[in-house]
Amino acid sequence: MALADTLHDFSAMALATVALALLLVFLITRFSSNQKRSSEYLPLPVVPGLPLIGNLLQLKEKKPHLTFTKWADRYGPVYSIRTGASSMVVLNSTDVVKEAMVTRFSSISTRKLSNALKILTSDKCMVATSDYNEFHKMVKRYILTGMLGANAQALGIDVESSIYVEGLGTRLSREEIFDVLVMEPMVGAIEVDWRDFFPYLRWVPNKSVEMKIQRMDMRREAVIQALFREHKKQITSGEEIEYCYLSFLLSEAKTLTEKQLKMLIWETIIEASDTTLVVTEWAMYELAKNPAPQNFLYQEIKKVCGLDKIREEHLSQLPYLGAVFHETMRRHSPVPVIPLRYAHEDTQLGGYHIPAGSEIAINLYACNMDKKQWDDPEEWKPERFLDSKYDPMDLYKTMAFGGGKRVCAGSLQAMLISCTAIGRFIQEFEWKLKEGEEANVRTVSLTNRKLHPMQAIIKPRV
Ligand SMILES: *[C@@H]1O[C@H](CO)[C@@H](O)[C@H](O)[C@H]1NC(C)=O
Ligand SMILES: *[C@@H]1O[C@H](CO)[C@@H](O)[C@H](O)[C@H]1NC(C)=O
Repeated sequence: MALADTLHDFSAMALATVALALLLVFLITRFSSNQKRSSEYLPLPVVPGLPLIGNLLQLKEKKPHLTFTKWADRYGPVYSIRTGASSMVVLNSTDVVKEAMVTRFSSISTRKLSNALKILTSDKCMVATSDYNEFHKMVKRYILTGMLGANAQALGIDVESSIYVEGLGTRLSREEIFDVLVMEPMVGAIEVDWRDFFPYLRWVPNKSVEMKIQRMDMRREAVIQALFREHKKQITSGEEIEYCYLSFLLSEAKTLTEKQLKMLIWETIIEASDTTLVVTEWAMYELAKNPAPQNFLYQEIKKVCGLDKIREEHLSQLPYLGAVFHETMRRHSPVPVIPLRYAHEDTQLGGYHIPAGSEIAINLYACNMDKKQWDDPEEWKPERFLDSKYDPMDLYKTMAFGGGKRVCAGSLQAMLISCTAIGRFIQEFEWKLKEGEEANVRTVSLTNRKLHPMQAIIKPRV
């Protein structure tokens, strides 16, 4: 009996041992295969930061592109930082950026928005901030068919002096409308609410940032509403209305909600005006500062256009004007750090393992200032885009329009508007910076806008 018991115990124990051994083998193989998997990659360099807040204090100046570039010198083209509770991978070279935008696109196609951007974009209800999904594809298609072309416009009406905005109970002038639709949201877009970084502290009542942004959102919606009303008024009055994106959407996109419609119209307005304005201003700054390129451009325009005013049809014969545009996009990237993308699954970049859940920051500024890619990157030299080694149509070159499947839908439009404006300015006037303006290069807002608008002395050409 005792023996039988012992035997029984023994066999039970043996069984248990075998089971344990199997479990161990299983764990070891799993563990070592895991080991192997992550050891195929180099460990991602990490910028040391403080416990809990990580590297946040080091970023408080709201000029992340400069801080990111400084870190790259020490930690290389791909490294990781911590912003409160989340980790962010920063990319500082063209190779890895292209890898992220094109090769690894399927793992990094979404965005994670700050509180401010979530409100301002009605939670991704725009092409630029939406995830790469059916909505994104549909709306991008609408923009490409309904919005582009030489005479495209968002609304078929022009605000001559002012309109009555019912939601605000007051009349707003053109300039005020521009402020509400473009300037305010662009500054709001880089508002930082510390709760962005500590989602687990979201319950702490500090709504000051949120309320400021919500107020912007409310004002913007009221203005768009008023513009829609003007549009409808003109149609019901039987007046001829010019072809526009709103009419296109009203007839083609019947599934859109009122809110979506407002957002999409607003998107075309803000995206076509802000970045285009920023890049045009920087181009004029550089031309006014550099008389030789200015004169060269003037001569080119004079030769091609003669006494005619420059028009979009002339642009293809004005390579130097194109070069001025591209060089300005490079030297003064209107979007120095591309709005964060998000890795929704494990992936890799530059040979490093990138865990799911990382935010990805693309430092375009660094790519465009890279000495390995550009000679004297600090210099503004349009000629570099005339050199046969650069293809002027290669929008990837400065990546100023993004790249891959998320490439900016309005790139051609932006180029047409900006180049025509620069060309006209140069055709009509000779430009010189006002004294002390050269050093005036500080910027503000998401899009590298000049903090102090450029001041120049202009002389009519005759
Ligand atoms: C709320 O947050 C903003 C910015 O994050 C900060 O400036 C402000 O002082 C905070 N208010 C309180 C009461 O903590
Ligand atoms: C990061 O960008 C800066 C500016 O372009 C450049 O000087 C530096 O070499 C880059 N660092 C790496 C590791 O690529």
